[in-house]
Amino acid sequence: MKFFVDTADLNDIKELAATGLLDGVTTNPSLIAKSGRNFLDLVAEICEVVDGPVSAEVAATDFETMLKEGRKLAKISPRVAVKVPLTPAGLKVCKALSTIGTMVNVTLCFSAAQAILAAKAGASFVSPFVGRLDDVGTDGMGLIAEICQIYKQYPSFTTEVLVASVRHPMHVVEAAKLGAHVATMPPSVIRLLFGHPLTDKGLAQFVADWQKTGQTILG
Ligand code: E4P
Repeated sequence: MKFFVDTADLNDIKELAATGLLDGVTTNPSLIAKSGRNFLDLVAEICEVVDGPVSAEVAATDFETMLKEGRKLAKISPRVAVKVPLTPAGLKVCKALSTIGTMVNVTLCFSAAQAILAAKAGASFVSPFVGRLDDVGTDGMGLIAEICQIYKQYPSFTTEVLVASVRHPMHVVEAAKLGAHVATMPPSVIRLLFGHPLTDKGLAQFVADWQKTGQTILG
């Protein structure tokens, strides 16, 4: 399973990239607004730091403007995955860009039917939002199960299921059990994946016992 970080905070991205466990980045207009940074400059900087797909979302909603924006974003780096909304116009842009070899991430997916359309439009990634579905009393992970099951029936579908709107480590574990290709998470959730109180307790015990030996490994 690939791990993407869902943030536009370059410091977080640098810190997580240094772990060697980060496979990509997703951003969205809300995260860009929060960063206060120039969008195009920031995307270029992220592409320098991370060796993997970097999702950058179009701002327009009509076909012609989205296509122009997508082409401009794709010029920043071959690592850019142009993010388009799951609308008829967004899927048209997806088809046009994927046909010329640009990665596209179709975002704001909330149903299995929408995920089928994204795959047919040649998306590299489809982003179902599990947390936002859970928020309205719908089973977000149930949607991931459905999409994974459907995509497996069609080997010609090359779209990767990118689990988005992840709120806690169990979302990640459940998505991994279902075979989802990617989870994109806020930095806080990635950090939570590392922790377990028994790891901390066990390590403290080993450190204390090692000191009793009076030895050093490095001499
Ligand atoms: C994914 O690409 C989105 O940017 C993100 O996961 C949305 O998460 P949210 O529902 O926490 O805003």
